[in-house]
Amino acid sequence: MASVLIINGPNLNLLGQRQPEVYGTTTLADIEMACARHAETLGLDISCTQSNHEGALIDVIHGAKGVHNGLVINAGAYTHTSIALMDAVASVELPMVEVHLSNIHAREAFRHVSYLSKVAIGQICGFGPKGYLMALDALAERITPK
Ligand code: DQA
Repeated sequence: MASVLIINGPNLNLLGQRQPEVYGTTTLADIEMACARHAETLGLDISCTQSNHEGALIDVIHGAKGVHNGLVINAGAYTHTSIALMDAVASVELPMVEVHLSNIHAREAFRHVSYLSKVAIGQICGFGPKGYLMALDALAERITPK
């Protein structure tokens, strides 16, 4: 069975309490549970991980090579700053879908730039938690055997 690793970056462990007017009231645990349920319907195996540390996120991406078939990444604020995360994704050569709960293009100018987009098959933003499920749909089309 094809396997997808869902990676969440800094401050996303606080979903549910963090700026609910921007990010909603759904917790990360709720999102991961919804992803697990959705993955089952798609015939995908998923694993989920979260870290507030850039280096730890890079290690997780490196570790995905040869283990997982695709990545879903919400890198939080590292999206807008981290060339290192972009390079890590490019290095492992796995299809990656970038997700953001909020519409980063409708927010502050510094959020309009995404280094990760340069190595993503696509970006989903502005749909809240549903974006993770949409990302799984997009990856399933790429990586599940026909
Ligand atoms: C975010 C958007 C980022 O700009 C922000 O730094 C986050 C969350 C989102 O999911 O909307 O931490 O990635």
